[in-house]
Amino acid sequence: MYDLKFNPEKYEVKTCELGGRKITYRAFENIVYCKNPVNKVQKLNLFVPEAYYHGEMINGYDLKTAPIFAPNTVGGYMEGPAMEVGIDKFNHKPNTAFEGLLHGYVVMCAGVRGRNTGMRSREFFVGGAGKDNGETEEALCGRAPALIVDMKAAIRYMRHNKGLVPGDVEKIITNGTSAGGALSALAGATGNAKEYEPYLKAIGAAEERDDIFAASCYCPIHNLEHADAAYEWLFQKETVSHMMRFEMGPNGPKMIPVVRELSEEQKELSKELKASFPAYVNSLNLKDDQGKSLSLDKNGEGSFREYVMQFVLKSATKEKATLDSQNRLKGLAVPGSEIESQDYITYTGEKATGIDTDAYVAKITRMKPTPAFDALDLKSPENEEFGDEKVPARHFTAFSMEHSKAGGEMADPEKIRLLNPTEFIGSRDTTRNWRIRHGAFDRDTSIAIPVILATMLKNKGFNVDFALPWGLPHSGDYDLEELFAWIDDLAK
Ligand code: DHB
Repeated sequence: MYDLKFNPEKYEVKTCELGGRKITYRAFENIVYCKNPVNKVQKLNLFVPEAYYHGEMINGYDLKTAPIFAPNTVGGYMEGPAMEVGIDKFNHKPNTAFEGLLHGYVVMCAGVRGRNTGMRSREFFVGGAGKDNGETEEALCGRAPALIVDMKAAIRYMRHNKGLVPGDVEKIITNGTSAGGALSALAGATGNAKEYEPYLKAIGAAEERDDIFAASCYCPIHNLEHADAAYEWLFQKETVSHMMRFEMGPNGPKMIPVVRELSEEQKELSKELKASFPAYVNSLNLKDDQGKSLSLDKNGEGSFREYVMQFVLKSATKEKATLDSQNRLKGLAVPGSEIESQDYITYTGEKATGIDTDAYVAKITRMKPTPAFDALDLKSPENEEFGDEKVPARHFTAFSMEHSKAGGEMADPEKIRLLNPTEFIGSRDTTRNWRIRHGAFDRDTSIAIPVILATMLKNKGFNVDFALPWGLPHSGDYDLEELFAWIDDLAK
């Protein structure tokens, strides 16, 4: 058993200098945040500007008042080890821990389990819920809902040590990208939801609140059970998928494009999935900012479609006005996404007011084949996320279950729900503050998915800052200055 007491004396003073910017910080590392961990990834790192221990302030914050910024490293629903201060291995820029510290935040990086946890040789904790130390027996222990259970346990650990840990435990802001964005959305939506209690008990999480102050979500890959229909609603006319495959070459990992025409069967399935989307959207009773109902007719046309496209147009208008101040600056924009060359957009003065949706979708291209998430051969990351130690992968939609080519079984409906933030909005202590970003050129999930999340939140009265930044692909942390300004505005 691990105790849950924070030791303020157990730290190292470290310095990190990147691109001429330097931060000296106290690093409290490898803190086990629950009493009965089942895997070594269940540890957190806490980083604090050293200046706070010398009575100094940064950005108006001090050791007690600094917000606690909590970025995760989850991607692809794989485990996300606790971040260290340094370079982000995806965008090769100083990471969020570095930027957060420099800005004056206390940074809490929780390592969380994922679908690959237990897939390789690993040690168990002595006295933990798993086997004894030194064994190499494999047990998959990181499938749904483990990632959010671990994040909650880390949040509870911080609250449990209120006054002992640096920073303001009532100002925890989670941050993540993609599956990590979904994790952040889950942390935001499910504060204190009792449904996670048995899982939290099992790992010996502190008995504390686990609601947060704010959630920052970049391209959250969430609402998985509706994502296939949403995908075909947008991409049905695009019949070629453009995936990428990783391959290890002599000079390191290479990305190999895999371009495939959908089969006739997939084209049929695509039509069926698209046809099932309006019933879902209509069941949500969404409203726009003026209170007007948003819906779709049986062809997938209607006010909801126009509403989704308004976000794209708003993004185009902003891009035209600022001509790349943020996006291209960060070097992340998709080649060919220059606003001047997007002839599917029409303008009234400087305002983008019309869009040929089919041409826009053809431009950004379809990434995934049909079904995009609940694969009929059970080979998607999401299928694995719903597996466990006995069954490696499962279906999570009735549609793919019915069309399964792998004799797949259905995941437990409760576990599907525990992984879907939209199911918990307003149910208990959903955070008030949301910042959601999804690149206007992102094809990893349909833009309808983040739009639904943002709209459900707005309709329930939450504070939502939502945008589809122009030209950006599936990515995150590209506008940290704006994110930090948003946090400071709320926190001060
Ligand atoms: C991620 C991307 C995906 O396309 C997906 O289906 C799941 C996760 C990711 O980048 O985390």
